[in-house]
Amino acid sequence: MSAEIIDGKKIAEQIYSELSEDIEALKEKDIIPKLTVILVGNDQASAVYVRMKGNACKRVGIVSETLTFDADISEEELLAIIDRLNQDASCHGILVQMPLPDHIDENKVIERIWPEKDVDGFHPVNKGRLQAGLPCFVPCTPAGVQEILVRSGYSPEGKHVVVIGRSQIVGMPLAILLAKKQKGANATVTICHSRTQNVDFFTKNADIIVAAMGRPQTITAEMLNPDAVVIDVGVNRVEDPQSEKGYRLVGDVDFDAAVEHVKAITPVPGGVGPLTIAMLMKNTVLAAEKSLFRRQ
Ligand code: GUN
Repeated sequence: MSAEIIDGKKIAEQIYSELSEDIEALKEKDIIPKLTVILVGNDQASAVYVRMKGNACKRVGIVSETLTFDADISEEELLAIIDRLNQDASCHGILVQMPLPDHIDENKVIERIWPEKDVDGFHPVNKGRLQAGLPCFVPCTPAGVQEILVRSGYSPEGKHVVVIGRSQIVGMPLAILLAKKQKGANATVTICHSRTQNVDFFTKNADIIVAAMGRPQTITAEMLNPDAVVIDVGVNRVEDPQSEKGYRLVGDVDFDAAVEHVKAITPVPGGVGPLTIAMLMKNTVLAAEKSLFRRQ
């Protein structure tokens, strides 16, 4: 029997309509949420992501600004731009698209953004607050995975969730988020990574599997049990001469085989991706709401 295919776009739409109400309420208080995105260099994939973020802002009524710079911008210049945006009261969220060129220290850039404008949730203050169970900006992809699970009726509460991948952006914060003593979480979480032995042992014993290691079509049907819910975070370009662009996008899961085998699965594209962007919009609105209570 074929799995339920979880429609990320539909769930993102629900979030957008909820956000529209919040944005209207802010407008009545003379606040229009604004997101500033910084794009350095000419990485094609980054440019596509940045465009998608700008389009989402337009859809929900968030003002968006994209600042683009050549790859040879100095670290000092980039930090000065962040300083200016930190001080600009009309800018509620700052996002520096990663990766950055090698001569720029990404951690230094992330740490320069004020935590209250860090809508990516990458700043060590936000990471620490997440860990400590304090209010913070939750990184967008982990937050999106949680929304998908809860809104599609597969709440992680009491379930064994196996997260494959331990990145600072997805795997680690997701594991922390889903293990929290909180509604929509309360999961038993296992993290698997490149040094895990017998990954199959864990995946076969999982209620929910989140594939987030960034390796195309690595999770095969044989590794999954028929009752599993599979969330595929991977976005990988693979060559495809049949496609106009010469490539197509695939996840970290072998979707065609897995869809015949498991209970539910997210597609790539159209699964987690739309939620990541929706959660960025949500964080930006939250940043604008919080600005109401701050002196600038
Ligand atoms: N590059 C890939 N994913 C992300 C993300 O979520 N935020 C930023 N800033 N850069 C990225």
